[in-house]
Amino acid sequence: MIPPIAGSIHVGGCANVPARFSRPQAVRAQRADKGGRMLWVKAFHIVAVVCWFAAIFYLPRLFVYHAMAEDQISRDRFVIMERKLLNGIGTPSAIATVVLGLWLISFNGSYYMSSGWMHAKLGLVLLLLIYHGICYRFFFDFRAGRNQRTHVFFRYFNELPVLLLIAIVILVVVRPF
Ligand code: HEM
Repeated sequence: MIPPIAGSIHVGGCANVPARFSRPQAVRAQRADKGGRMLWVKAFHIVAVVCWFAAIFYLPRLFVYHAMAEDQISRDRFVIMERKLLNGIGTPSAIATVVLGLWLISFNGSYYMSSGWMHAKLGLVLLLLIYHGICYRFFFDFRAGRNQRTHVFFRYFNELPVLLLIAIVILVVVRPF
């Protein structure tokens, strides 16, 4: 464990890396500090995030085509595709993202919990989870044959997670506050 050093910077999640370290040195110091475990958890956190977003970008796209479908065979096929995407990829990777993210926080809880960027990130993740829940609601509407929304509505709905993704990545990488 590297002891706290005045004027240290937070590089890659390690709270006590001296400011004079270059990023590779900081990563090496972090490896020595945490036995490399945190980097492994972070790698899988990012993999889970990518899978979650793959699902969350594609699902509303399916809703667009589903809302435009005119025959029952196509509608039934969209219901199957949406169910598999949500239950097979979207929700498991959302859970993995949150679990691995909380695990990352546990490596250095006092630092993360006193950082403004992390509070903002968690707020945006909450919005993302609400978006995920709304996707379920729309899916249930489609499955029950009671969707009233147009394909134009779903085209706009599709853009919201793009904004959340940009904001969250800027927060975790730039850490502006
Ligand atoms: C409850 C959910 C989440 C928690 C608790 C969480 C927590 C964390 C923590 C503690 C780190 C380590 C930061 C560091 O390197 O010091 C991290 C890294 C990261 N997180 Fe999350 N996260 C969550 C969800 C997300 C989501 C939804 C995204 C993407 C939209 C995301 C993207 C990233 C990225 C890209 C990194 C790597 C940052 C870097 O190394 O520069 N996280 N996360």
